[in-house]
Amino acid sequence: MYKFPYKDIISTKQFTRNDLENIFSIVKEMEEIVKSAKVSRLLEWKIMWSLFYEPSTRTRLSFESAMHKLGGDVLTVSDWSTSSLSKWESLEDNAKINSIYCDILTIRHPEVWSAEKTAKSVSKPVINAWDGANQHPTQSLLDVYTILKENKRLDNLHIAIVWDLKYGRTTHSLVYLMWLFENITFTFISPEELKMPEKVISFLDEKNIKYSKINDYKQWIKDADVLYVTRLQKERFTDLSEYERLKNDFILTLDVLKNAKKDITIMHPLPRVNEVSHDVDKLPNAAFFRQAENWLYVRMALLYLLLNQSEWKEFSSD
Ligand code: CP
Repeated sequence: MYKFPYKDIISTKQFTRNDLENIFSIVKEMEEIVKSAKVSRLLEWKIMWSLFYEPSTRTRLSFESAMHKLGGDVLTVSDWSTSSLSKWESLEDNAKINSIYCDILTIRHPEVWSAEKTAKSVSKPVINAWDGANQHPTQSLLDVYTILKENKRLDNLHIAIVWDLKYGRTTHSLVYLMWLFENITFTFISPEELKMPEKVISFLDEKNIKYSKINDYKQWIKDADVLYVTRLQKERFTDLSEYERLKNDFILTLDVLKNAKKDITIMHPLPRVNEVSHDVDKLPNAAFFRQAENWLYVRMALLYLLLNQSEWKEFSSD
């Protein structure tokens, strides 16, 4: 039986292919629990502290729902002004106090490496629900699970990632997971101002993974097995006139998709603004709402795995 080897989930770089295969087998069990409407008490008496110091719909609610589905409880701080951080308490002190009242902390915070800083200051497990423009590891675990379900494989894939690659942390985390599979090719499509950060490109060079960078999005689409679209992260632009100049430059329409493979999987971490036309939703391979459903199953599995590290129990969905 797989024993989760990590105290925290901070970065997708921490995972191996073996970890993913094992995590996904538990995710499938969680999916069965939800779909068969079984009452589960796997996390009874466990409390998750849900600390969201930046706005969230999907991540916070899917984590909280996951906890409730497994019989656990949730304490939520979703407004910075209601936390003592607004009285200049340090993140470390704040986390230490929060960890006294709970069994696991899920944190979203605008600072890069805030989740790691939190994890180092507490003995309870910490989940990074995104740390600024750095990473969103649980999003990428569910993205990879979605690719597996939609494409029926994780090897031999051409993955095109489009639009805000600078601030779109889910794209960084996805690259750090998908390189683990065989014969993966990436195409990065973005304006120069929003190109994939050098640290991600250096990582791919170091691992000898194939990638190309393109400005004209109409050229590449015929090769992609997966198309991963992101929104412009308006809130992270230091110059709003740059956002205004770029905001309508990429819009995925049915017309753009005419040259795509018939079985291309179209993904988006959501929320969407205007970068995917609503007409695209009706395509059978528009997977973004199915992707959103996977949020719940993946987060149930992660909470279960993290909270059962010290006294591992044989997994049973009964
Ligand atoms: N994809 C994502 O993280 O969505 P939320 O910001 O709504 O949590």
